[in-house]
Amino acid sequence: MEEKGASFERAMEELEEAHGKDFLFEDGRVLGSMCTKPMDGSVDVHSKFIESNLGNPGLYPGTRQLEEKIISIVSSLLHGNDFYGQVQAGGTESNIVAAWVARNVSGKNEVVFCENAHFSMLKACDVLRMKPVEVGLNENFEMDVGEVEDKITDDTAIVVASAGSTELGAIDPIEELSEICREKVFLHVDASFGGFVIPFLGDLGYPSKPFDFQLDGVSSVVLDGHKMGMSTIPSSVLLLRKEDDLRSIAVESPYLTSLHSTSLLGTRSSAGVAALYFAMRTLGREGYREIVKTCMVNTMYLVSEVKRINLGVPIEPVMNICGILVDDPVRVREELDGKNWKVSMSRHPDCLRVVVMPHVTRQVIDSFVHDLEDVSGG
Ligand SMILES: Cc1ncc(COP(=O)(O)O)c(C=O)c1O
Repeated sequence: MEEKGASFERAMEELEEAHGKDFLFEDGRVLGSMCTKPMDGSVDVHSKFIESNLGNPGLYPGTRQLEEKIISIVSSLLHGNDFYGQVQAGGTESNIVAAWVARNVSGKNEVVFCENAHFSMLKACDVLRMKPVEVGLNENFEMDVGEVEDKITDDTAIVVASAGSTELGAIDPIEELSEICREKVFLHVDASFGGFVIPFLGDLGYPSKPFDFQLDGVSSVVLDGHKMGMSTIPSSVLLLRKEDDLRSIAVESPYLTSLHSTSLLGTRSSAGVAALYFAMRTLGREGYREIVKTCMVNTMYLVSEVKRINLGVPIEPVMNICGILVDDPVRVREELDGKNWKVSMSRHPDCLRVVVMPHVTRQVIDSFVHDLEDVSGG
C-alpha cells in the first residue's frame, strides 16, 4: 500500500480501465452465465442499503423485516406455509448450509448427489468433512433414482437434487426422491437456477414437474435472486420446512445484538436483501412469468436455429438452458471465443451450453448462430 492515497481522478481512471476490460451483459456476448443485468431500480436499492449488515440484525430492524417478507413471499411461491429461512450470498453458501444443517440434525455423514450436481456440493463435503456419494444420470441427464435408493445407507445425512441443473437445466425426479426420503433422509432441492423459472412453466404451457414443498419429503430449497430472480449479486434464499433445522447450526454470538448466529457468514451483505425484495415486489408473478416466457421463446428459437444448421441438442430444453452438440466442443468453444462469444461447456454430455438469460435476445441468437455455423462446419 502506498503511504499517500491516489487522487480521486487517478483511482477512477484505474477503475474505468478495469471496468472497460470486463464483459457486460448488455453487450450480448455472454452466453454461458446464469446471471444477467439486474432489473432497473434494483441497483439503486442495492446502493441505498449498502451499510446494513444482517449479521447484526438488532441494528437493522427494517432490513430484517425485508428479509422476513422475502422468506414469506418465497414460501408462498414454493408452496410452503410460512417456512423458515435466510437470504444468503448465493447457491454455494445455501448448499453448504443445507448440508451442515442435515449433518447436525441427523448426526450422519454421507451426502448423496449426482454427477451433474453443482460443484458446490464437493465444497460442502470438503468443508464439512462429509463423505460424497455420487450417483449417475438417467437418459434425460437427471439423477438416477434407482441408484439413489441403492446408495442410501444408515449413514446418509442428505440427498441433494437439482431443479434446473447447471449444465442442462434438467429437473431431477424430485417427486420420486421425495417418496424415498420422506421422514427418513433430509432432501435438499438445489433450485438456485430453476426456482424463479419452474413455478411459471406450467402456466406458459411448457412441461413442468413438482419440485418444491408441495412434496412432503422436501426438507429445504434454495433459489437465487442473482440468477433468474433478476436482482443484484449477492442473493440466494434458503428455505427450510422446520425451524429447528436452522437452529441446529446456531452458535452463541455474545458481542452482537442477537444471542445466537444461525448463518455461515458473520457480516452479511444486506444490500442484496433489499434489491431482491424490490425485484419480487415490483415484478410479482406476472413480471417473472413474462421474463420466463421471453427466455423460453428465445430458447426454443435457438434450438430451431441449431437444428437448421444441422447441429443437434442433447435434450429438448426443459428451461432456458440449451446444450449444443458439436464434433469438437473444446475447439469450437475456442474459435467462438476468438469471435468474442463467451460460451460455456457441459461435461454430461460433452457439449456447448448456452444459458438463454434475458440479455440473450433473438438478435444475439441470430448473430451467434451465424458464427457457430462458421466455426462448427454445421
Ligand atoms: C444449480 C446451481 N447450484 C448452485 C450454484 C452456485 O451458485 P453461486 O455461484 O451463486 O454460489 C449454481 C451456479 O451456477 C448452480 O447453477
